[in-house]
Amino acid sequence: MEVITRIDTMREKLISSRQVGQKIGLVPTMGFLHDGHLSLIRKAAQENDIVVVSVFVNPTQFGPQEDYEEYPRNVERDALLAEEAGATFIFHPSVEEMYPENYETYVEVTDLTKVLCGRSRPGHFRGVTTVVTKLFNIIQPDRAYFGQKDAQQTIVIQKMVRDLNQNVKICVCPIVREKDGIAMSSRNTYLTNEERMQAAVLHKSLEMAQKMIDEGERDAKTITKAIEKQICTMEKAYIDYVALVSLHNLQPLTVLSGDILIALAVKFGATRLIDNVIITV
Ligand code: PAF
Repeated sequence: MEVITRIDTMREKLISSRQVGQKIGLVPTMGFLHDGHLSLIRKAAQENDIVVVSVFVNPTQFGPQEDYEEYPRNVERDALLAEEAGATFIFHPSVEEMYPENYETYVEVTDLTKVLCGRSRPGHFRGVTTVVTKLFNIIQPDRAYFGQKDAQQTIVIQKMVRDLNQNVKICVCPIVREKDGIAMSSRNTYLTNEERMQAAVLHKSLEMAQKMIDEGERDAKTITKAIEKQICTMEKAYIDYVALVSLHNLQPLTVLSGDILIALAVKFGATRLIDNVIITV
């Protein structure tokens, strides 16, 4: 497996594979790989001949007060893990390679990004859709793999692909969880032991919501309040949002029907965690 840092080299490496009809899978990541990422790489390796894992901590998707500088990085470790999981190349460009001086072009999905995480992280999704489009242009993958944990991100990217006629299939893979139910995330490394223990409430509250729905509850407000109440039993938790929305347009629901996304974002100390579940009623 090779680690490639230059855009032109990356393109050259893929020309011959594409010419002989090999399928290319892309797994975009910001590195510090965990089992969630590895499940995407394994899936990509099953479904494609070549797997490119991009490792790039994308500055344009971080707000000025966010954790761009602190975001954990270890590309040597990532390379070992990615190779074991079936990657063919790691694409690890520098910031200057991706955003040279005088860079001024951005891709924006306008409405789906105004809600949920987009509300508390203005500009975040514009950074995501811009870098993902650049990666699609560089790699020209047949398929690209994203985790369901970032539910809004997957919906925004699917919309971008449709709206801009980007020639790539988006594959969304299930959330991978720790033993106590916490969704795997590179940001879990920021949590203190106590915060880490308390953060298990997120998955528990989603399971409770699922149970309420299974037992017939359809009132979104009742379920939202129950989730909030359970999360607030943890003294370190500070709720950003708890939302019951339509999976298709991310608009809030009052009475549950169809495909529903229950999404939440909660801070434990300085660490903002997200989690979600999709339920069809
Ligand atoms: O989900 C992530 O890690 C990032 O948002 C992505 C898709 C790699 C873009 O930087």
